[in-house]
Amino acid sequence: MKTGAAIKASFDGAAAVYDRARRQLVPCFDDFYGTAVESIPYGRDAAIRVLDLGAGTGLLSDMVARAFPQASISLVDLSPGMIEVARRRFTGELSRFDLSVMDCTRGPLPGRYEAVVSALSIHHLDASEKRNLFRKVYSVLCDGGVFINADQVLGSTPEIEARYREAWLRQVRARGVSEGDLVAALGRMKEDKPSTLDEQKAWLEEAGFEQVDCLYKSHGFAVYGGYKRVNRHGKESGG
Ligand SMILES: C[S@@+](CC[C@H](N)C(=O)[O-])C[C@H]1O[C@@H](n2cnc3c(N)ncnc32)[C@H](O)[C@@H]1O
Repeated sequence: MKTGAAIKASFDGAAAVYDRARRQLVPCFDDFYGTAVESIPYGRDAAIRVLDLGAGTGLLSDMVARAFPQASISLVDLSPGMIEVARRRFTGELSRFDLSVMDCTRGPLPGRYEAVVSALSIHHLDASEKRNLFRKVYSVLCDGGVFINADQVLGSTPEIEARYREAWLRQVRARGVSEGDLVAALGRMKEDKPSTLDEQKAWLEEAGFEQVDCLYKSHGFAVYGGYKRVNRHGKESGG
């Protein structure tokens, strides 16, 4: 089975119960997602357009939507099952949300946005797919727009990576994760292709991002991103 198809099948299978163990499986849940939301540099009343890449069941989109009540949010995900759960989450307010099944490694990204966000998705892409995606994200951002990725990063040495894994297992067990949810998460993690934070910061800069920074980090969980350059000549640049 091709990797994209394996990831799609794995998340389609998990969609119905995906949300259940999130706080256990992401031990730093509040700081991790909270930092991603508070790093969106617009006023809370701004009618910003936001793209959520690998949006899954809409966890991050939901938090962005509550923090920015005038925002319109586009969710894309490879898995129809995950998008269906997101659609149910946002029933009743679908005028603010646009949901699409899409592989973000293929073709251009749709639309134009003040902010592109992502959580726990881009680590499924290999190094060259991440580099390409960062370039595509840059092209759909408005001048001065921001890209925020809350994701798992690879330790910069095998020893550091082993410590991340040990810390994660210790923390999820301390939070009482069920054996079933842990086994399912470990199964999904077989498809992971995390890259180091330093590699990804370099790829963001290579794509044109400025003020590239890590905004939060706890072991292998990091929130990082950058800004699209403001065009001083007053004309929108990029894609
Ligand atoms: C661990 S879930 C995270 C979902 C959500 N962002 C969250 O924070 O709960 C990863 C999601 O990324 C999606 N995904 C993986 N590769 C993708 C790709 N190439 N294009 C679009 N979505 C992808 C999966 O289908 C899955 O829904």
